[in-house]
Amino acid sequence: MRTTVFLDGAALKDFDDLLDAFSAARLLPETCGRNLDALYDVLSENAAPFDVVIANAAEFHASMGKRADELEKIFVRLKKEKGGAFRLFRLPEGETAYSASALASLLKGSPLPVTAQANAAAYLYHTLPGLYWAGFYQKRGPSLFLSAFQGKPACLAIPMGKGVCGTAAKRKKTVVVPDVHAFPGHIACDADSRSEIVIPLWRGKRFWGVLDLDSPLTGRFSDEDKTLLEKAARIIEKYL
Ligand code: SME
Repeated sequence: MRTTVFLDGAALKDFDDLLDAFSAARLLPETCGRNLDALYDVLSENAAPFDVVIANAAEFHASMGKRADELEKIFVRLKKEKGGAFRLFRLPEGETAYSASALASLLKGSPLPVTAQANAAAYLYHTLPGLYWAGFYQKRGPSLFLSAFQGKPACLAIPMGKGVCGTAAKRKKTVVVPDVHAFPGHIACDADSRSEIVIPLWRGKRFWGVLDLDSPLTGRFSDEDKTLLEKAARIIEKYL
């Protein structure tokens, strides 16, 4: 299972806050020395895969000073050593990480279902790092049809039961595909696609369609992401 450490430069005021973020993700044992060398030693020996997401990097560097540079060097070393087991994401400047309450207030008052879908797709795409596509497919008859999305142009229609979207739609269950090359029948809208998650959506008791997120990274979607996105789906459904 992957762990994510979220480092928001706007919220971290000192080095202790930074270490607390690693402790909260259970990557730093209490017995560990609270300095950068100790952090590096623990992270480099820690076998579990983990990701670090940095938001507001400029503020991060302003409040951490030289230590931010040293931390960057640690990340470069970890990337070399741990390969895909360690990934570093940076949110564009000014963007914060996903929050359910921010999504809820963004969608409030959406005049049309597509208004909510469009903003939800944009919000997810810009707050969850490592995505290249986020959007909706709506069921009409025997197929799912492309609705609002962020990312490159995508397949217009997906028959129920086909591809990852059609499979999730048929099973009425979230489908997480860590490696799309190992999923028979995956529909490649983009050759760079590596992992995907598809969540069924409901309008009341009636099946509506799916929320689909794609990533160029293998194993992008953890159990935590699944929980987070299923909760997001419950927020979005109010507007379908
Ligand atoms: N990969 C999906 C098709 C939709 S696109 O990725 C946007 C699938 O297999 O259903």
